[in-house]
Amino acid sequence: MDQITVKAWAKINPYLEVLYKRPDGYHELVSVMQTLSLYDTVLIKKVRKYRLRLICEPDRLPCDERNLVFGAAEYMINEYGINQGLFIKLSKRIPVSAGLGGGSSDCAATLIGINKLFDLNIKTDKLAEIAGTFGADVPFFILGGTALVTGIGERCEPLPPHPHCWVVLARPPVMVSTPTVFKNWKPTDGEPGAEKFISAVRRGDINEMAKLFSNSLLPVTAGKHPEINALITDMKNLGAKGASMSGSGPTVFGYFRSKSSALEAVDALKKEHPSIRELYLTEIYNPI
Ligand code: C5P
Repeated sequence: MDQITVKAWAKINPYLEVLYKRPDGYHELVSVMQTLSLYDTVLIKKVRKYRLRLICEPDRLPCDERNLVFGAAEYMINEYGINQGLFIKLSKRIPVSAGLGGGSSDCAATLIGINKLFDLNIKTDKLAEIAGTFGADVPFFILGGTALVTGIGERCEPLPPHPHCWVVLARPPVMVSTPTVFKNWKPTDGEPGAEKFISAVRRGDINEMAKLFSNSLLPVTAGKHPEINALITDMKNLGAKGASMSGSGPTVFGYFRSKSSALEAVDALKKEHPSIRELYLTEIYNPI
């Protein structure tokens, strides 16, 4: 095998509860994470002429150490003694800095791809451990599907596959910094709802899940960007079973029962929010 193409799935957080700030500055959390049908691709090719080259499409992304794909490839080359050059092409479709885990998923896809391309036979647990050194939510993407994520994001436990539904994504045109959002998070007196939510996931009760969507980071990001709350309300008015923000935002997601109702919502949102260029119709997707 001379080359491999790996899909890097986007994620949403139907449930995200920040528990407390740790002495090291990270936040302990409990989250249910779910992959969607929206994906980037990572093509990895063996070459002779050079050691490592990354190109990105579109090309406004950094293609050096600042890109987690480059870092992951560099790590694998050094750690597993790969004495073969690598050409990597990252084709982006997942919106960047959107709360959809694109960069983390690309990183995980690179680790998975190199493991397969060179028959390294690194076990999933070890690969997830390596993934954790690149970012708190990278280990989830080694598994994908539906998972209960705890710790700072590094502990992942598979949950029964989330039932299918159509998911509309709307990314407001604002930039959000994940570290700043976490820094501005404040504990509240709200009831912890993780157990109820996880029980709904285990029962495959999508209506109950949609009622219980929750994100501790929503007040922080929406406090600065009120259009996020407006989008959540609009999605519900357009027939979503439920709507919430993913990760630290700013992307809003809504669950729809049918493809036609989801498409109608996309059209209506385009009209109501002309500044939003990034609207996507996706589905819940559980890679096997
Ligand atoms: O680990 P990652 O680089 O994805 O996280 C980005 C930033 O988000 C961290 O540097 C940290 O400031 C914040 N973070 C956090 N608690 C988490 C995950 C991320 O405070 N559980």
